[in-house]
Amino acid sequence: MGTGSTLGLIQHKLASARSVTVLTGAGISADSGVPTFRGTGGLWRNFRAEDLATPEAFTRDPRLVWEWYNWRRELIATKRPNPAHEAVAQMEQRFERFWLITQNVDGLHRDAGSRKLSEIHGNIWMVRCTQCRHVTENRDVPIAILPLCSGCNGLLRPHIVWFGESLAEDDLETSATALQSSDLCLIIGTSGLVYPAASFGSIAKQAGAFVVEINLDATAQSGIVDAALQGRAKDIVPLLLQA
Ligand code: APR
Repeated sequence: MGTGSTLGLIQHKLASARSVTVLTGAGISADSGVPTFRGTGGLWRNFRAEDLATPEAFTRDPRLVWEWYNWRRELIATKRPNPAHEAVAQMEQRFERFWLITQNVDGLHRDAGSRKLSEIHGNIWMVRCTQCRHVTENRDVPIAILPLCSGCNGLLRPHIVWFGESLAEDDLETSATALQSSDLCLIIGTSGLVYPAASFGSIAKQAGAFVVEINLDATAQSGIVDAALQGRAKDIVPLLLQA
């Protein structure tokens, strides 16, 4: 099927959809200038995300991990939502039932106006005390290294779900409910390599949803989707709403 007819089919499916779930990954923010994890520019001082975004890395060298987050905070602080984030925010108004599940921690979906969302990997502007577990917003750029809890003086860590950690129970439940009740699921800009999000397309499909992938390239999940559009999220996602 050619790209033109695939776009038409997806536009048609969206126009008649009542329950839509969107899953996003780093690719949607790539068009805002935020580097993806597994593409070029994803490395920092030759570390991969998997080397730094773990509880073990933080225990071993919290300063190094915070320096990496400061690099990412400085970068993200200068970025704005792009037309793909904006189109996803519009979908919230358009459909009877809508839920956005994002793996991104950059907060750009919120900046674009999305409110019906689960940030399943957390948010880079939130910190959590490793002692009393209190969660607060912290927008300091750069954040003081090493940051301490104003309540108990414990070491603060990013409020982010790291490799080897579980997603919050309520995020998992909300995501599962949305995926299982959707008649259309859009998967935008994720490599589909990191679980559990990598299984969300299959969950939606098994529950009867029409599953669409929008990505620059084919991904680990391309085999299970019903339709795929290759290209930049900022060019494609706004088109989907033009029925
Ligand atoms: N438009 C659409 N897709 C794009 C674009 C773009 N402009 N640029 C890149 N992509 C695609 C890439 O082809 C790739 O499939 O976005 C995907 C980005 O993949 P990853 O870097 O692996 O990001 P993501 O899937 O979000 O990673 C999942 O891994 O490191 C962890 O916790 C981190 O949430 C992250 C998780």
